[in-house]
Amino acid sequence: TTGAAPAVYGQSSRPPRGDYARCHTDYTCAQNFSAYSEADHDTYRRLYARQSALLPGLASDVFIAALPSLGAKDRIPRFDEINERLWRATRWEIVAVPGLIPEVPFFTLLANRKFPVTDWIRTPEEFDYIVEPDLFHDLFGHVPLLFDPVFADYVQRYGQGGLKAQALGACEMLSRLYWYTIEFGLIRQPEGLRAYGAGILSSSGELPYSVRSPVPQRLPLQLERTMRTRYQIDSFQRTYFVIDSFQQLFDMTAPDFAPLYPQLAALPEIESGLALQAG
Ligand code: PHE
Ligand code: FE
Repeated sequence: TTGAAPAVYGQSSRPPRGDYARCHTDYTCAQNFSAYSEADHDTYRRLYARQSALLPGLASDVFIAALPSLGAKDRIPRFDEINERLWRATRWEIVAVPGLIPEVPFFTLLANRKFPVTDWIRTPEEFDYIVEPDLFHDLFGHVPLLFDPVFADYVQRYGQGGLKAQALGACEMLSRLYWYTIEFGLIRQPEGLRAYGAGILSSSGELPYSVRSPVPQRLPLQLERTMRTRYQIDSFQRTYFVIDSFQQLFDMTAPDFAPLYPQLAALPEIESGLALQAG
């Protein structure tokens, strides 16, 4: 799912489309596998084929190497099957949800190494673009990197940090870190820039754009700047933040953010795409 869920996606004008009546109190539910139509499986197959063909030279090596762990490419995979491999790799599991969920349950799942995956897929009319996260975004975009031990630990730490931020009224600042790393992060590899963020990797347009276009700004990831920079939810990003490695990301975000939040709250927000003289 994308982000500190509703906070990351902003206030949607439409109610979420999933059926929340069928979920447990932690918002998880059984993957409603029998609800998938042949058209749904076909949508997954076509999205997977288009997106996987784009990856070489644009997606991070770790993502490309882990993608086959999702299993079936020609139909929607069963989450249970993925979980057998994911649990063995990093002790994470994916859990089905009806769609976006509130911040505290979202953070709580991540803190417990459970990644919420929306169990419905977009309609054929939404093939190229959907604002709300669906199964394809959540599964194809997010789950491969959960097979990487360092990245998997980072996502858990983010969940723990989210529960802390919630108590400190700092979710918006923290959600920008999620947005610019887990959703729209770029990584510098020896051969060049690559994408590791799920919002990029599940988008056929933004994947080449984020890596190759001369238009957007690309800055080294920097905690203070990232947490002050606003973001677009319905267009390509104007700013991307670049890391050198997942270990760098993990180490940079390891310090206690509690003293940082009031400092940042006292500073103005930064528009994305804006060139600043300093930091
Ligand atoms: N170190 C952060 C804190 O103390 C938690 C965190 C870790 C947040 C990793 C995001 C990513 O709040
Ligand atoms: Fe997402």
